[in-house]
Amino acid sequence: MPIITYILPDSTERRLEVPTGQTVMEGSVRNNLPGIIAECGGGCSCATCHVYVDAAWAHAFVEANDDEAALVEFADGACAESRLACQLVVTEAADGARVTVANN
Ligand code: FES
Repeated sequence: MPIITYILPDSTERRLEVPTGQTVMEGSVRNNLPGIIAECGGGCSCATCHVYVDAAWAHAFVEANDDEAALVEFADGACAESRLACQLVVTEAADGARVTVANN
């Protein structure tokens, strides 16, 4: 099972096994990690799942679609590495990926 490292807002790190097919958001919420609120439940409409994907791991996830790109652009602290965790579906290619949770 892929292991995703979450770097939390307090700078601590948590390594979690996240089943393929789940999203990075679901991995966080199901394990009660702080930081990813996921107010809209994965509907790509709230941006409270804002994370930064380490540039070295950007290839491990599908590119943002237009809806995600339009929403994440306005998230606090948005930058080139910004993604919405509810849109990051975990595959074997994401094994070892590191995501930094934004202050949502
Ligand atoms: S959970 Fe709302 S946009 Fe990701």
